[in-house]
Amino acid sequence: MSTIAQTLKDRRSYRAFLKTPVDQALLESILKTAMLSASNSNIQPWHVYLLSGARLQKLKDATKARSTVPPQFDEHVYKVYPDPLEEPYESRRFHCGERQYSAMGIEREDQAGRLNYVYNNHQCFGAPAAMFLYIDDKAGPSQWADLGIYLQSVMLMLTEAGLGSCAQISWNVFHTTVRDVLNAPENLTLYCGLSIGYPDMQAPQNAVVADRAPVGEVLTVMTD
Ligand SMILES: Cc1cc2nc3c(=O)[nH]c(=O)nc-3n(C[C@H](O)[C@H](O)[C@H](O)COP(=O)(O)O)c2cc1C
Repeated sequence: MSTIAQTLKDRRSYRAFLKTPVDQALLESILKTAMLSASNSNIQPWHVYLLSGARLQKLKDATKARSTVPPQFDEHVYKVYPDPLEEPYESRRFHCGERQYSAMGIEREDQAGRLNYVYNNHQCFGAPAAMFLYIDDKAGPSQWADLGIYLQSVMLMLTEAGLGSCAQISWNVFHTTVRDVLNAPENLTLYCGLSIGYPDMQAPQNAVVADRAPVGEVLTVMTD
């Protein structure tokens, strides 16, 4: 029987997908059920777009046309990391990227290979469906946290349905193109995308299982 703890253990990010289409009704039902996620004062600050078929292809084509060398990225609408990113976060971020690159045999000096890997984000790693999460540009930290709760609900239900996903902040480098294709209103800010599909388990990048910090680094327990 599926439990939430087991689904949490089973979920991980996949970065190569099969072309196999995903049932549209199932996806819509998952995104609707995720609306049961908690939010502060129930304001439900998430604005959700689900793309597949011709519209997703249009987005992939539009970003492919912008996947130049050297890159010409949009200026970020929000700071993805503090600058500088200090320890222990910087080491965790570095380790995460290096494990992906090394699984795919992309050396540190291979700048073209690394850029190509980044651009693969904008082809949804081959996935046939994608969700985009937007937030009102006047929203504060509590509403951003609410979006994370919505995102987690979606990812867990996708896992439970036998699907894979990968959340992608990296869509921010092309946020103007995403807005154009989605026709998203100007008062909304793109938080992230989420590629959705059946993972290609033959792909080396999907063999990477991200580790976690020792519990003592994050959990403080007090009983006295
Ligand atoms: C909000 C968010 C944004 C992310 N953005 C990206 C991204 O742009 N590209 C990517 O390959 N992975 C991205 N990830 C996936 C993380 O790297 C991944 O969740 C982390 O390494 C832990 O691995 P796991 O999801 O397999 O447990 C993102 C995850 C989250 C939650």
